[in-house]
Amino acid sequence: MTDATHPASTEPEPGVIPQPASAPSASPVHAPLSPASPTIQATLPAPGRGLNDDPLWYKKAVFYEVWVRSFRDSTGTGTGDLNGLISRLDYLAWLGVDCIWIPPFFPSPERDGGYDVELFTGIQVQLGTHQGMKTLLDEAHARGIRVISDFVVNHTSADHPWFIASREDPDGEYGDYYVWRDDDTGYPDARIIFIDTEESNWTFDPVRKQFYWHRFYSHQPDLNYENPKVVEEILDALRFWLDLGVDGFRLDAVPYLIEDEGTNCENLPGTHDILKRIRAMVDEEYPGRMLLAEANQWPNEVVEYFGDGDEFHMAFHFPVMPRMFMALKQGSSKAIREILADTPELPENCQWATFLRNHDELTLEMVTEEERQYLWNEYAPVPKMRLNLGIRRRLAPLLDNDERQIRLMHAMLLALPGSPVLYYGDEIGMGDNIWLPDRDGVRTPMQWTSELPGAGFSEANSYLFPKPIPCVPPFGAQDVNVADQQANPDSLLNWLREILAQRRKHEVFGLGDFQQIDCDDSILAFSRNQGSTHVFCLNNLTAWPQLAEVKMAGFEGRVPAVLSGSIGEAPEVITEDYRIELPPYGYVWLLFSDPPANDSARN
Ligand code: BGC
Repeated sequence: MTDATHPASTEPEPGVIPQPASAPSASPVHAPLSPASPTIQATLPAPGRGLNDDPLWYKKAVFYEVWVRSFRDSTGTGTGDLNGLISRLDYLAWLGVDCIWIPPFFPSPERDGGYDVELFTGIQVQLGTHQGMKTLLDEAHARGIRVISDFVVNHTSADHPWFIASREDPDGEYGDYYVWRDDDTGYPDARIIFIDTEESNWTFDPVRKQFYWHRFYSHQPDLNYENPKVVEEILDALRFWLDLGVDGFRLDAVPYLIEDEGTNCENLPGTHDILKRIRAMVDEEYPGRMLLAEANQWPNEVVEYFGDGDEFHMAFHFPVMPRMFMALKQGSSKAIREILADTPELPENCQWATFLRNHDELTLEMVTEEERQYLWNEYAPVPKMRLNLGIRRRLAPLLDNDERQIRLMHAMLLALPGSPVLYYGDEIGMGDNIWLPDRDGVRTPMQWTSELPGAGFSEANSYLFPKPIPCVPPFGAQDVNVADQQANPDSLLNWLREILAQRRKHEVFGLGDFQQIDCDDSILAFSRNQGSTHVFCLNNLTAWPQLAEVKMAGFEGRVPAVLSGSIGEAPEVITEDYRIELPPYGYVWLLFSDPPANDSARN
């Protein structure tokens, strides 16, 4: 019954075509990726590009979350799978992604998109096999791409054999693996997270005739971390995937591991102790691998998850995300500036993970009640667009499909402190489907081509697709797809690829310090600085042209290079009072480097 006793199969499993872990062929290659996507082009990286051995790789990386079930179906079943993802790695390498994050792929009844895990060391049969996962890791690594896996530490599915045993035999080996009580009065100060569906954090189990504790859906009982055996089980399950070669984990819902009466049961010292044990194991046994925390908390609480550089390497910066949306609507940088000013410094070996959207609702937990109402009114006017304390929409529809705003939000994301985490499909501006239940509307199939019904995602009959492919303008596959955008040099996709390439060339974005710059509120102005490299980032948050006026003392006589931006060239710095006009929702990254890389000193 112990998860870690299920060994990884070394033989390919029936029905799975083994994929060679070969190095990619010589570049550049413009070749079709598969017969299903005749027009998708990929320029492969140089052969043997492989992984670098930089232990701080995550500080400079660009991450990309792939909802595997909706990315590419290799078997004609209508569900995306690991082999499908493998067949799209060239695309991700072409785009310029450094690390893929794959949400849970473990066996699961899938009542919460796979976050309801039935076996921590298995693979959901529709998604592939251990051999397929190994191939994915090898093929990604050969392209210089790392892979981190989600891992759900806080709870399991109620279908997990541990829970079944725990219900049936309170005195048995698994009796104490979950949090059981005779009544439902414990921990009254803990909030309910899924407020749209759950009425209590306790649910009565008719078999054991006791209540069990759960922070999420009632079919997701929380593990009992007071039980040392649970900690050992989880450590072993993590080792299992680390042995297979994953480069780290996004640990799901980490604030809730330990409960304590009289507290809100979040961020408790006991929780940090357990997380530090996980980190110590990783450092000792798998140096170079990375842990990313999902802790939807305020900056002063989330920094606790970095410890003294001995807990998480990375943590999502939840509060900055809704403030980027707020700033854009208000045409004012105030909200972003304030939250960044409140964000403590991190230990040297740590990094924020920043994001615009992901597979969940756009969470509005880290804003005030008044701000939440504002954001709901502005971005989710229709009740169907709302879920729990958030908004279940994708980036492009949130931004009225206005490409200037989509580019501006990405430009800010890529330049602000932290490593950006992109969400599949946002690179082409995919839409959502608010008529689907829960968060399914932001998890629809990737639109590779315009060819319906499968849009390059699948050759199956479309009635087999768990989530339909959008086919209505302006977000249908005919309007928004990878192949068309690859062919169009002015597309959002090609723009993003370009700006990612610039970011990759200049490690100041990952490693440099961050300075806010005084400027009119309508412009978010900051610089990133590392040694003699300085990048000034100016972002016009309004729908009107704006004159950005900033101080540039010390750069007189120099002409900055435009690394990326809505303007072609930048004027010379004549006096310290620098002025540059930005178009509506325009942005610019101005580089000064010494010796000048692209910027030129004028005599
Ligand atoms: C995941 C959600 C999931 C929840 C419960 C989260 O933080 O991102 O998708 O529903 O954990 O596992």
